[in-house]
Amino acid sequence: MPSTFSPIIAGTMNWGQWGSRFSTQEYLMQIELCLNEKVSTFDHADIYGHYTTEEEFGKALSLKPSLRQKIQLISKCGIKMVTPNRPSHLIKSYDTSKQHIIRSAERSLTNLQTDHIDLLLIHRPDPLMHPDEIAEAFLQLKEQGKVLDFGVSNFTVSQTAMMASRYPISVNQLEVSILHLFPFLDGILDQCIEKKITPMAWSPLGGGKLFNNPEDERKKRILAAAQILAEKYNASPDQLLLSWLLFHPSGILPVMGTTKIERIKAAMAALSIKITREEWFMLWRASTGHEVA
Ligand SMILES: NC(=O)c1ccc[n+]([C@@H]2O[C@H](COP(=O)([O-])OP(=O)(O)OC[C@H]3O[C@@H](n4cnc5c(N)ncnc54)[C@H](OP(=O)(O)O)[C@@H]3O)[C@@H](O)[C@H]2O)c1
Repeated sequence: MPSTFSPIIAGTMNWGQWGSRFSTQEYLMQIELCLNEKVSTFDHADIYGHYTTEEEFGKALSLKPSLRQKIQLISKCGIKMVTPNRPSHLIKSYDTSKQHIIRSAERSLTNLQTDHIDLLLIHRPDPLMHPDEIAEAFLQLKEQGKVLDFGVSNFTVSQTAMMASRYPISVNQLEVSILHLFPFLDGILDQCIEKKITPMAWSPLGGGKLFNNPEDERKKRILAAAQILAEKYNASPDQLLLSWLLFHPSGILPVMGTTKIERIKAAMAALSIKITREEWFMLWRASTGHEVA
């Protein structure tokens, strides 16, 4: 039975060595704080923290095993990073062979200290991938109960169609934000609607870039428009930019990168902000710099 994901997903990329360097207790606290806010889905990848974040998260989970049944775990595989933690990797590359997918998923299970992953994604499209081989890996993991559901990440329309022709694809995790509009135009979100694939948005706030370089003309326009709407809805500009993403009919699930619980809380509150179609286009215009044709 596939899992249901929370409408806001907590991304763990910055929880460990690539960001906040949480202690085990801090991981546990963050998981529980997210759960208090009804954010129950946690986005991982084998590579996060140079292959260490899943293990750190798993250690925290083992302190309170009852939490496992309340949460959904996403992991990803297919990127091979060069790091002292993987001395055999000589160059950054992709590997979507059956053997690599199964080995990576099994490592994630061990590291996360769980008997199943709710959703496994192929992290990046691999120029050497063959959907039959990926499907064989997915089928084996599914039959063994190790992974409940499968998807892709950063796949184009044709790559997703190729994969879906061999195995049902539940999710495409993509970069989507007011700063990254391509998925609205290149057919990928249309395909999600057509094929009932759930789009998950990584960097839903542009990875923080919006807030870091306010002198950039495009960012100035976006923040000014978001501020006007924020005042109307008694909310903050980042909440407005999330409500803008959530407005899209494909049912985008934002994967939040923040490690600050107040921002997770604000993101959940953004679910109840219902902007109008015209307001959606005000933000679109602010991003593109011109009105629609
Ligand atoms: N599938 C893929 O290829 C892929 C690629 C990248 C990421 N991901 C996933 O997506 C998740 C999110 O990615 P992301 O971190 O790029 O997403 P994001 O949520 O767009 O950006 C998070 C960054 O924005 C900052 N930020 C958010 N709101 C802010 C505000 N109001 N003012 C100032 N700064 C603000 C955060 O700072 P604070 O921490 O200070 O709040 C943090 O540095 C990752 O954790 C990972 O799980 C997937």
